[in-house]
Amino acid sequence: MATWSAPGKVFLFGEHAVVYGKPGIAMAIKPRVFVTVRNTKRPQRAKSPYIDGCFDAMGVVGSVYINSQIPSSSGLGSSAAVTVATLSAINDEFSLHKTREDIANMAFEIEKTVQKGRASPTDTTVSTYGGIVFISGGSRRRLPPQNLHLVIGDSLVSHSTARMVEQVAELKKKHPEIIDPVLDAIEGVSMSAIHHLNNPRELGRYMNMNQSLLEVLGVGHPQLSRLILAARSAGAFGAKITGAGGGGCMVALCPKQFKHRIAGAIEASEARAIVTGIDTEGVRKEKNV
Ligand code: PMV
Repeated sequence: MATWSAPGKVFLFGEHAVVYGKPGIAMAIKPRVFVTVRNTKRPQRAKSPYIDGCFDAMGVVGSVYINSQIPSSSGLGSSAAVTVATLSAINDEFSLHKTREDIANMAFEIEKTVQKGRASPTDTTVSTYGGIVFISGGSRRRLPPQNLHLVIGDSLVSHSTARMVEQVAELKKKHPEIIDPVLDAIEGVSMSAIHHLNNPRELGRYMNMNQSLLEVLGVGHPQLSRLILAARSAGAFGAKITGAGGGGCMVALCPKQFKHRIAGAIEASEARAIVTGIDTEGVRKEKNV
C-alpha cells in the first residue's frame, strides 16, 4: 500500500491569456489531495476518468482510496492533484521507477485527454513540483518561493473551465480589436509582476489590474466581484479571480495580520474562505496508514 499527496494551486496572474501562449504565474497552495493505492487482485476504485487514465498510462491494476481537502471543480486544481498523486502512488506501489518529470508529463497528457485537449500544463506542473511556476508557451520555470499570505474565497457558484475558455475564444473572434490588446495587457501585468514577487503590496496592485482585465474578457461573476471587493475593503493588498472565472474561486493577497479579518469578510458574503499559503514540496509520499 502506498499513500502520496499533492497540492492544489492558484493562478496569481495570466489565466486565460496562457491559453494564447501568453505567460502565466501559478502557485501551489496548502490544501492537498491524499491518494492511497494498493496492489490487489480485486481492484476497488471510485469511477473517475482521471484515475482510469492513471492506471491505463502505468499499465497496471489496483485499488484506490482518495481523501481530498480541495473542493472539486472550483479552480483550485483538484483534478491535477488527484492525477499527480495517483500516478506517484502507483509508481511507488508497483516499483515502476518513473521520475518526477515523467509523472508531470504523464499527468498533463491525462488531463489533456480527459479535458478534450483543453488543458495547459499549469496545474499538473505546479502540483508535481510545488512552489511558484512561470508558464509561457511551451516552457515552464520555477520561480523563487515567497511566503505570501493568501485567502481564497470559494463563491460556491459552479462553473465550467471549458465553457469559460470557449466564451473567451468567441469574444476574441468577434472583437479581436478589443480582446487582443487586453491579452497583451495581461501579459504586461504578468511580466511586470514577476519582478515584484517579494513585495506583496506591489503584487496586490498587479492582481487588481489583472482582475480588471479579466472583467473585460467577460469571465467575472457578481458573487466573485462581491468577494473581491469585500476582501479589498477588509485590507487585502489585492484580489482577483483565480482560474477560469464565471464562478469558482477568487484569491486575495493579504497582510499577515489581516488574513483572518479578510476570511471573515468573505464568509460574511455567503462564501467559503480558505486561509492558506505556499506549498513548496509538491507531490510527496505520506506515511502508510
Ligand atoms: O479554473 P482552472 O483552475 O482550471 O484554470 C483555468 C485556467 C485557464 O487559463 C482559463 C485555462 C487553462 O487551461 O490554463
